[in-house]
Amino acid sequence: MKKYLVTGCAGFIGSTLTDKLLSEGASVIGIDVFRDYYDVNIKRRNIASALQNPSFTLLEKDLSANLGFLNNFTDSSDELVIYHLAAQAGVRKSWGSDFRIYTRDNIDATQNLLEWAYDRGGIKNFVYASSSSIYGVPEVLPMTEDQTVPIPHSPYGVTKLAAENLVRLYTANMGLPSVSLRFFTVYGPRQRPDMAFNRFIRSAFNGKAIGVFGNGRQTRDFTYIDDIINGLRLAENSTKGLAMNLGGGNRVTLLHTIETLAEVMDRKIEIEFSESKLGDVPDTWASAELAFTEMGWKPSVSLEEGLKQEVNWLSG
Ligand SMILES: NC(=O)c1ccc[n+]([C@@H]2O[C@H](COP(=O)([O-])OP(=O)(O)OC[C@H]3O[C@@H](n4cnc5c(N)ncnc54)[C@H](O)[C@@H]3O)[C@@H](O)[C@H]2O)c1
Repeated sequence: MKKYLVTGCAGFIGSTLTDKLLSEGASVIGIDVFRDYYDVNIKRRNIASALQNPSFTLLEKDLSANLGFLNNFTDSSDELVIYHLAAQAGVRKSWGSDFRIYTRDNIDATQNLLEWAYDRGGIKNFVYASSSSIYGVPEVLPMTEDQTVPIPHSPYGVTKLAAENLVRLYTANMGLPSVSLRFFTVYGPRQRPDMAFNRFIRSAFNGKAIGVFGNGRQTRDFTYIDDIINGLRLAENSTKGLAMNLGGGNRVTLLHTIETLAEVMDRKIEIEFSESKLGDVPDTWASAELAFTEMGWKPSVSLEEGLKQEVNWLSG
């Protein structure tokens, strides 16, 4: 029997993927330790509908600890697809003493899971959620997968790249099927409360000025959650250990996104500028050609449509 293991299943992307898999009739084991990086009640809400489904098992466990318990939840004959989305996210908090949280949840946990997967065998694919943060400030845009060794611009990016390299090693040396997907700023319903659009929309609803770090001319390649979920599903069959960008093709300045948001919300939005934060990069822009040639992936949701969906979700 085929089963899916989704790590970080109560988070923004993990819970959305879990719901998608369950809607396809799949059997899903979800792992999440409910870190309090943001309000854990949000995570409880994210996972509430999945918990109603008998095909879903939630394990509230820490991936950086012993994973022996996992053997009780899959038969050795089960074919397993692992979606590894658990991580300590967020660039800004990754400086200083909090770095050890990032090494624990992004590097140690990934290595632990890779070891478990290799020992178990029967893995159809190990899909790792990487990040555009691994690129840092590249000399050439758009960002392509084949450019010289990426140099991350934040400690968070360093841990995401380290984990991606670990995944690559287990494929090259132990034959573990894998793929790494480098997500570019994901948004939409359930987006984390620390992320820009979520903060912007809540400020606008409350009639407060939107806080922008830097001059607002920085560009981002925003990617709608459904496009990411579609990429994750296609990636199930991409098992060669490649790393691929999943970027939305919606590269715009932050100021432009705020204008679009004002139109979508039909209200005037004030902006309060402050200094850019350590680790913020001036631009992200994905070349999504590899994901297209390898697995036919193409983002399809416009920024305006995606923003409407996130506004609807936050107004509910
Ligand atoms: N959201 C984005 O724009 C974005 C962009 C690039 C990459 N990513 C990557 O996508 C993945 C999901 O991101 P998200 O935005 O959904 O984040 P999220 O914080 O909403 O979800 C991550 C989940 O992982 C869980 N977790 C953390 N450490 C764990 C551990 N040791 N054991 C078990 N569970 C643990 C957390 O409790 C959380 O619920 C992450 O790997 C992140 O680095 C996200």
